[in-house]
Amino acid sequence: MATIRVIYENGSPERLIEFDPADAPFQHDGEPGSVLDVLLGHGIHLEHACGGNCACTTCHVIIRQGSNKFSQASEQEEDLLDRAPGLTPTSRLGCQAVIEDPDAEIVIVVPRYTINQVSESRGE
Ligand code: FES
Repeated sequence: MATIRVIYENGSPERLIEFDPADAPFQHDGEPGSVLDVLLGHGIHLEHACGGNCACTTCHVIIRQGSNKFSQASEQEEDLLDRAPGLTPTSRLGCQAVIEDPDAEIVIVVPRYTINQVSESRGE
């Protein structure tokens, strides 16, 4: 079994999910077995304005542990990430980052701001 611990930069309580990557997809948005797929499929919300189609940055997450357990980022994902607020060297798009190790112990951080939230705070 793999695990994902979800830490929220805004101080919301952490969540821990245990899952079998072989059971993917867990729902219909994002790549099967991606962070977005696993979270939504286990009742944990993650912004995903484009429906998990690698066309926005609202699903931006920071991989704090286990970044080598994921699929490689595509050029399109890298290009989009360049526009994500709070980009880090281990940033990924949650809908594209697929967990490939069945025993992975992943820790992710959900950043405080996404483009959606930045727009909302500006009243746009
Ligand atoms: S949900 Fe839009 S890129 Fe992931």
